[in-house]
Amino acid sequence: MIDKKKQHHPPTLDLKNWLPYIREHNIITDSLWLIPKRDGSGSMKELHHGEFIPQIPRQAILRFTEPYDLVVDPFMGYGTTLVECQRLGRNGVGVELECKILEVAKRRLQEEPNPYNVKVEVIEGDSAATDFQKILSKRGFTEAALVISHPPYHDVIKYGSNPKNLSNAPTLKHFLQSYGKTLDNVLKVLSKKGYYILVIGDKYTKGEWVPLGFYTMKETLKRNLKLKAICVKNLEETMAKRKQINLWRYRVLKSGTYFFKHEYIMLFQKARHTSNP
Ligand SMILES: C[S@@+](CC[C@H](N)C(=O)[O-])C[C@H]1O[C@@H](n2cnc3c(N)ncnc32)[C@H](O)[C@@H]1O
Repeated sequence: MIDKKKQHHPPTLDLKNWLPYIREHNIITDSLWLIPKRDGSGSMKELHHGEFIPQIPRQAILRFTEPYDLVVDPFMGYGTTLVECQRLGRNGVGVELECKILEVAKRRLQEEPNPYNVKVEVIEGDSAATDFQKILSKRGFTEAALVISHPPYHDVIKYGSNPKNLSNAPTLKHFLQSYGKTLDNVLKVLSKKGYYILVIGDKYTKGEWVPLGFYTMKETLKRNLKLKAICVKNLEETMAKRKQINLWRYRVLKSGTYFFKHEYIMLFQKARHTSNP
């Protein structure tokens, strides 16, 4: 007889029987994430500029959380993390500054079924000035098992005109300060051995490579977090770039630069002591 209760249990990694789990969910175990295609199923059909692929939060949730754990996303954007929470039976809280973007996230969550009856909450606000403890306790949570953080890649994409948006930070220094404030706020609710995932890419300014990934990693390591992995993920070509591939090739040849074909997924875990200075 089929155990209905078990059938409706959200997926969870059992190290005594891990092989079927990693096969079923395509769990990546090495640091090179080559994901050929974005999963555009369900409410994720429509793609918005600057959102990450659903496979990123899915991998993180499936490896680093248990069913019904809480996942927090301080740069929620169009709600990709929360959609994955809903699909995989994890509770979720996301904070987003821009109302227009937040509305897309809300719509997506309404369109998606909620098979495990989890709570996912979308909150409008500035993560650099948000009291996450208050937000969680109001909703009956005490801590998060996982924080997924996907800040703007500084000014590469403008997400809105609000000066508090990290994409409008006037300098790199201001960007890192605001990122650091958000980090301090959100780490207050991360559980003792909870995981923090940072997804970020680098940028060019006037023909010079600006390693945002390494700067934000350095900022992150100032807190009590242990670096567990630096993964590199392929970036698909955008439609616009694909159409003008030879123009882009010429540009990089002329300026002595390269196309961005990768971004970073950095994994940290809360720790009292770290070896990194
Ligand atoms: C790289 S996008 C995140 C995309 C998201 N992972 C998704 O898949 O849709 C960064 C988001 O952070 C938001 N943001 C920037 N500054 C913020 C702040 N101070 N507080 C809250 N959200 C902020 C931006 O408006 C943008 O939607």
